[in-house]
Amino acid sequence: MYLEELDRYENGLIEKFRSHPFFTNIKTLSDSEFKNMLVQKRFISLSFTPLYDCAIDAIEDKEGKTLLRQLLREEYPKGQSHRENLVTDLIKIGITKKEILETEPTKETIEAIKSLFALLKFQDFHDIKILVSLRMAEELLVAEEYSFILAELKSRYNIHINDSIFYGPHYMHDRKQKPFGVSGESHADKFNKILAAIINMEEKCAAAKHAIAAACEARMKFFDQFVK
Ligand SMILES: [Fe+2]
Repeated sequence: MYLEELDRYENGLIEKFRSHPFFTNIKTLSDSEFKNMLVQKRFISLSFTPLYDCAIDAIEDKEGKTLLRQLLREEYPKGQSHRENLVTDLIKIGITKKEILETEPTKETIEAIKSLFALLKFQDFHDIKILVSLRMAEELLVAEEYSFILAELKSRYNIHINDSIFYGPHYMHDRKQKPFGVSGESHADKFNKILAAIINMEEKCAAAKHAIAAACEARMKFFDQFVK
């Protein structure tokens, strides 16, 4: 019952996220505005690992810790890391290494990163809140963002999903494929078995709702700076 309620609530937030003016107007961005957004978004991507490190320190749930460790380690497979894959994609798009390395995060990007770390603050039903918010902010909505970015890569630069070594694979492996609480193989769905076992009362369901709404707000905050 709680899981179905959360699934409906979460789907509503995903729709809200996808209706953010940045995404609805993405086609009107100039080439340099689009590239600038991608260079700023790299800082959000780089914050993934410290966020997961802090969450691992914060939560008590053993299976939750194991999953977060696994997702963190996937960032650094043998050979090129996911962060290097991101730079490879940015260069393929035509952004120079100098631009990537010399651009500083804007005040708004820094604030957006702080909002993501704020999701980890100690509070009631701490484990549930952290797990649902990371699932939302760092997996599920990442795939939603990349669905828009991949469409632009195709129409602007003729770069297809299979030509992208960062955005393409992350879109495929992060996205929500199963309803909330139903186990699956994507990163978002891998949280589900753990969450289904611990969200077993009204107060926990309410806590989860509060956390995923905050996670969605934190993720949208980054895009506010690019709305004209
Ligand atoms: Fe992921």
